[in-house]
Amino acid sequence: MKHLIAAGFLVIVVTLALGFVLTPANLLPDQASLQARPIDQLFSFQFWAISFLFSLIVVFMLYSMIVFRRRKGETGDGVHMHGNTALEVTWTLIPLGTVVGLAFWGAQILGETMRVDPTASEINVIASQWSWRFEYPEEGIISSEMVLPVNQQALLLLSSQDVIHSFWVPEFRVKQDALPGGEEMVRELRITPTDIGSYKIRCAELCGRLHTEMLADVRVVSQADYNAWVEEQLNAVSDDPVERGRKWYTDFGCSACHSVDGSDMVGPTWLGTFGSMENLDDGSTVPVDEAYLLESIRNPGAKIVQGYQNVMPANIAEGMTDEQVQDVIEYIKSLQ
Ligand code: CUA
Repeated sequence: MKHLIAAGFLVIVVTLALGFVLTPANLLPDQASLQARPIDQLFSFQFWAISFLFSLIVVFMLYSMIVFRRRKGETGDGVHMHGNTALEVTWTLIPLGTVVGLAFWGAQILGETMRVDPTASEINVIASQWSWRFEYPEEGIISSEMVLPVNQQALLLLSSQDVIHSFWVPEFRVKQDALPGGEEMVRELRITPTDIGSYKIRCAELCGRLHTEMLADVRVVSQADYNAWVEEQLNAVSDDPVERGRKWYTDFGCSACHSVDGSDMVGPTWLGTFGSMENLDDGSTVPVDEAYLLESIRNPGAKIVQGYQNVMPANIAEGMTDEQVQDVIEYIKSLQ
């Protein structure tokens, strides 16, 4: 009994010590969305449960090793024990109850993170190797950064143009895959940002060579700043096709694979390409003219430049109008 009380006391002390160190505040990034709150509560409970279980096992083990060690001159065997039904039933039922309880709690929290706000504004999030594009259908904006008004639910409609990607902002906690396959494969994610600030979207699904660099900015701003951003975006569409092409270059993710400064990336650089002769992987040579560029944007697999692989998504330009494609060609022509 004396030993049980001593070990029990040590278990409590170690649990408290660990529990105060292992908190969401210490282990997780800032909490910046409404959906993050119930998730962090669950995490917090789990960290306490982990602290307790770790203490229970390790304290009893170390206590027994030290207090009941073999003393000098002891030569006899220890006490033999054969099973203990009450103990075995207890240590089966308590974990079972805990796991079932956590399953219910988890399901409830999952429901809470998907709670619908009817005033939520829709944003189409289109992933492709290796960039993100954000379309605001209500405002008519296409952007390579995501801007969200604070304290207002955003309904993200996630899709992919090639392989499976995954939308993840650690500060918002929630995560959802972006799947290829069109309309019926679109997945929803609801985020209500609660803290003004800048965060990074990460791709959380291995998607090829530049997976780790598939990042995008998300800015949470006040409603007034959001309105100003919308205004600015709507005015940003220039009269100059080259300027528009420069914008589409980042908005449609061309910049993930094609440099404009001559450096070598996944795809050929755009600098100086127009008007040059390109060597193809079948040994032939073609002049880089408008027809060639148009074909390469609309049907990327048609002609592959020597030394490069056919990795450009075949439908990358599906979301682009003919005018936008023409703008991009004008931009490429300007890069001499
Ligand atoms: Cu996209 Cu990993």
